Amino acid sequence: MPESELTTAGPPPARRGGLSPQATVILTASIAALGGLLFGYDTSVISGAMLFFQHTFHLTDVQLEWAVSAVLLGAMAGSALGGRLTDLWGRRPVLMATGVGFGIFSVWTGLSTGLPTFVIARFLVGCCIGVASLVTPLYISEMAPAKIRGGLVSLNQLAITVGIGVAYVVDYALAGAKDWRMMFASAVVPAVVLVVGMIFLPESPRWLAKVGRLAEALTNFRRLGREQEAQIELADVERVLHEETGRFWDLFKPGFRTAVWIGIGLAILQQITGINTIIYYAPDILTRAGYSSAKAAILATVTIGIVNILTTVLAIFLVDRVGRKPLLLVGTAGMAASLAFIGYSFAQQAKGVGVFIGVLVYIFFFAVSLGPVVWLMIAEIYPTKIRGVGMSVATFVEWGANFVVAVTFLSLLNWAGAVHTFWLFAVLSVLGLIFCWLVIPETKGKSLEQIEEDFRRLGRRRGARA
Ligand code: BGC
Repeated sequence: MPESELTTAGPPPARRGGLSPQATVILTASIAALGGLLFGYDTSVISGAMLFFQHTFHLTDVQLEWAVSAVLLGAMAGSALGGRLTDLWGRRPVLMATGVGFGIFSVWTGLSTGLPTFVIARFLVGCCIGVASLVTPLYISEMAPAKIRGGLVSLNQLAITVGIGVAYVVDYALAGAKDWRMMFASAVVPAVVLVVGMIFLPESPRWLAKVGRLAEALTNFRRLGREQEAQIELADVERVLHEETGRFWDLFKPGFRTAVWIGIGLAILQQITGINTIIYYAPDILTRAGYSSAKAAILATVTIGIVNILTTVLAIFLVDRVGRKPLLLVGTAGMAASLAFIGYSFAQQAKGVGVFIGVLVYIFFFAVSLGPVVWLMIAEIYPTKIRGVGMSVATFVEWGANFVVAVTFLSLLNWAGAVHTFWLFAVLSVLGLIFCWLVIPETKGKSLEQIEEDFRRLGRRRGARA
């Protein structure tokens, strides 16, 4: 693109509603993060609704398993497709379409008249979750300035945790009326807010540059609060785009191949260390640990939700200051220790308090590390032209691992017992710590283009050595 064309893009648009550049990007990221809220809400709402719709539809245990896991299978399908769609059509239209889908399919779930329609509706909600889990962090990472990108992308994780918390509260509030239909249909509210909000947000400037719409890319960098830096940032994006072919196979070139393995490794690690055994089954675990009243177990679950949210806020402040890697190392070490302690507590006579404290400490270490950092890093490490597809690979693996853990956990618990199950998760966390120590690079403060260059250089070094 000739320089003249760039400069005809005109003066920077007036500040929106008098917002500072920082406030503009924070607002933009917060609206997009509603995708994360729907992800959190829709994966968790089923735990409270389960009891009631099982009764309405007279489900056997096997049918119930299908009803519960349909959403995860949908998320796998959505994440497999979402990357390609967003590379082709842009981040903004795909996120908007996802919001529309969330609205329609949540209401459909609430209205379903039998198991087949319910399972199909939940599968389609799952597809939306899969797409949102990928496009939300991707969009935020591409529009964020490098030095606060970690915190902004982690707003997505904060929204996930808030979504989980809201789902617990809605389930609790509607449990008296046994209104499982409303529990599912309520997701229409954030879905509408997401769609309306997205109307006002700019398309990702990096995606616009990728498809050759450079003048719009420049305008959008400016809309996102970049003043003088807009042109420099765009020039950097253009420079790396020249080196990319945009073909899927770029992902398997030396250097980017490492990025693919890092993404897959982080995705598996986030799930096989057991987070969703706590998020989905906390009341069950606590009951096994001796909590006799359901009320006490639910109250304990709410406390877990609050710790999850508050610690994510802490992570948002830390991730651009101390960096991604130190958080991952401290987090996986803390998770290993707390999981070992949960297992140990299950072996004791009075296990309730020990297990509960262990779970809270575990949630703290997850929420300060693997929770936000995995979604952040998989949105940072792939080359621009195929960033969506690269994320699809990692996100698909993430949902696959989530599915495997969710459907095997109760059987594992019954077969191996609680002590050995949690010790197994502890061992997997130690392996995760070693993986992070040896393989994960630091991306703090670097632009997406610098990160891409680093992987390219790594590929060249490896090529020279071979
Ligand atoms: C994970 C979810 C998990 C949530 C808990 C997310 O980062 O991907 O599987 O339920 O964190 O906060």
